Amino acid sequence: MTVTPITVQVHSSGRSSRVVLVEDVRRGLSKRPKELPPRWFYDERGSQLFEEITRLPEYYLTRAETEILARCARDIACRMQPEAIVELGAGSSTKTRMLIDAARQSGMLSRFVPFDVSPEIVERSARELVAEFPGLGVHAVIGDFAGDLQQIPRLGRQLVVFLGSTIGNFDDQERAAFLAAVRSLLAPGDGFLLGVDLVKDPAELIAAYDDAAGVTAGFNRNMLAVINRELSADFDLGAFEHVALYDPELHRIEMHLRSTRDQWVTIPGVGMRVLFQQGELMRTEISAKFTRPMVEAFLHDAGMGLAAWYTDPEERFALVSAVPA
Ligand code: AVJ
Repeated sequence: MTVTPITVQVHSSGRSSRVVLVEDVRRGLSKRPKELPPRWFYDERGSQLFEEITRLPEYYLTRAETEILARCARDIACRMQPEAIVELGAGSSTKTRMLIDAARQSGMLSRFVPFDVSPEIVERSARELVAEFPGLGVHAVIGDFAGDLQQIPRLGRQLVVFLGSTIGNFDDQERAAFLAAVRSLLAPGDGFLLGVDLVKDPAELIAAYDDAAGVTAGFNRNMLAVINRELSADFDLGAFEHVALYDPELHRIEMHLRSTRDQWVTIPGVGMRVLFQQGELMRTEISAKFTRPMVEAFLHDAGMGLAAWYTDPEERFALVSAVPA
């Protein structure tokens, strides 16, 4: 008999994902303008579409971040000497492997702690990781950012990582709350590694969120398919157009779905009938972009300081190393 060095700890702040979906849809569709939170993009099909997005020529984010990690993982591992790497929103941890590898080689890393809402993907990648890195223990924590970060155990000097520019999905308040929760996980000597997308030419940003092949459009509309399936709704996916806008004041991309005609949508799962007017926009995602001073300011406000700033040669994306102040 072999003992697999994998443990899984499950939380969900007491609310099932079904209850959260019902609340999100009821609240979001009662707002003017209407909105739906981006977490509902990621059913199986949506996760597949996102994987496809990461390979699109226009979507530079994943490639740029991977490039930075390939170049800087060793430096980061040597500076931080983590005994544990905690990955928030771990998913399949593809990019994190480079960090794990570097931290194994620098000798100290014994634990990987992936934190994610989805147990399936995390369990699969946990099995791959223990096979790839003999002696590494994986302690997965299943939960959501809003309520469960405090459940993450501290298993030694740790590097908490949050990659992929996911922080861009938060508005100012959500980001501050999230960073405060991250800060409360850190002891002196620990670190936080954050992937952020940088402010750049709006045309380049818009192209990344409105690709020529239409994959992002399909990803955006997939949220309606999720609501149709889970809440027995009757959204006509053919009657909503994908829209990607850049707001230079708020330095963020916004994705919307635009109703192509006046139409009623029935959503039995929340007991609602909702009117969409022709041309009406419903926001499905914000994706904020940053400059170095903005990053320094939000880290400072959360009780952290910038320790190192790594970018790709074109300065499209940054990996930010922060430490508790
Ligand atoms: C996974 C949130 C980082 O905002 O760039 C990709 C999601 N949306 N294309 C992003 C996304 C449209 C992505 N994040």
